[in-house]
Amino acid sequence: MRTQVGIIGAGPAGLLLSHLLHLVGIDSVILEARDRPYVEGRIRAGVLEQGTVDVLNDTGLGARMNREGLLHHGTTLRFRGRNHHIDFVDLTGKAVMVYGQHEVVKDIIAQRLADGGKIEFEAADVAVHGIESDKPWITWRDKAGKDHRLDCDFIAGCDGFHGICRPAIPASIQKVYERVYPFGWLGILARSKPVQDELIYNNHARGFALFSMRSPEITRLYLQCLPDEDIANWPDERIWEELHLRLKGEDKLNLAEGPIIQKSVTPMRSFVCGPMRHGRLFLAGDAAHIVPPTGAKGMNLAVADVRYLCRALETFYKKNSGDLLGGYSDLCMRRIWKAQRFSWWMTSLLHKFDERNAFENEVQLAELDYVVSSRAAKTSLAENYVGLPFEDQ
Ligand code: FAD
Ligand code: PHB
Repeated sequence: MRTQVGIIGAGPAGLLLSHLLHLVGIDSVILEARDRPYVEGRIRAGVLEQGTVDVLNDTGLGARMNREGLLHHGTTLRFRGRNHHIDFVDLTGKAVMVYGQHEVVKDIIAQRLADGGKIEFEAADVAVHGIESDKPWITWRDKAGKDHRLDCDFIAGCDGFHGICRPAIPASIQKVYERVYPFGWLGILARSKPVQDELIYNNHARGFALFSMRSPEITRLYLQCLPDEDIANWPDERIWEELHLRLKGEDKLNLAEGPIIQKSVTPMRSFVCGPMRHGRLFLAGDAAHIVPPTGAKGMNLAVADVRYLCRALETFYKKNSGDLLGGYSDLCMRRIWKAQRFSWWMTSLLHKFDERNAFENEVQLAELDYVVSSRAAKTSLAENYVGLPFEDQ
């Protein structure tokens, strides 16, 4: 088999890259370790920045998102049991869209297949070869046990944090920056009506809680927990009890309970690995960086990376210039580090840190108080949350 760009991973990064390349006439093949139902059912992020929404709309992927997604004009910070509204539209002129990552994934897969795109699901033992040459290739085994080889001009490593592409770059030229947090998020999806139509980021002495949603019938809720929390210790009754305790306040926020249809624990870390390119291998999305979910930036960063990568590849093929490919990592890193800073700041502002003393806890509350009472501070939060402008526009 031969293609121009061999893509490893059918998450948001790999799928969108394949779609964007198709629109500019560049051929690609995606190799994905899991099967299609697994990829389409994986519950993860939910908030799309305005720039992500624009990319999906501008490239013909927005129809279902615009019908079923929930446009949010702001969000709520809650502390000391009271809500404080941050109005994104008033502060920045922009909004965000709440639409599940797996719905975006379903929409892109449907479009890719309708356009004749090639996605090889259940590809086992995927390996990259010759990345330092200009004729790299990928090998894998299909589910029938047959071995394959894909020759390509470039390889895009979009295989997430646990993939094989990042380790294919020699450790001697990689720099890793990492922070592991002493907590995780226990997330649930519940069949219950959201009691408020925007998200609530809740700081509480018992730990952080997030109120979010997926539709007018489905609520998405998170609780700060131990990073290695055993989900078996959290029967449904305990989850609801803890959510009520953390969200309780003077204004009697009344969470509607309902059957829990999914629950999981996600440990939290900040991680950056660079450069994102080695020879003909380019990393994009979680393969190169992870953010704690507090800033809702993970999937949005993946979209920004592949948008830049597509432009760089288009310039290579159409103008015979490798300049943008050469600048890819630096351009991505500027956005990545700003998103890292914002995600780290939101995480520090909202979570309970056991190692902090009474003084530091009061400083945290004072910072929240400052943020919600200063238009300048609220604007800074809002412009990062809705997404900073793409640098190459
Ligand atoms: P991924 O979505 O991880 O896609 C990588 C793909 O590569 C996967 O389909 C995987 O199966 C495939 N793959 C891996 N290894 C191989 C291999 N060897 N060969 C072939 N294919 C391979 N972000 C938020 O903003 N909010 C959240 O609430 C949130 N929750 C999250 C919960 C979890 C458990 C995780 C892991 C992430 C979460 N994120 C969240 C982050 C966000 O979902 C990611 O940033 C986003 O998925 C990145 O997309 P990606 O395409 O780069 O990687
Ligand atoms: C979600 O709805 O899953 C969600 C929303 C906001 C976040 C993280 C996750 O910051």
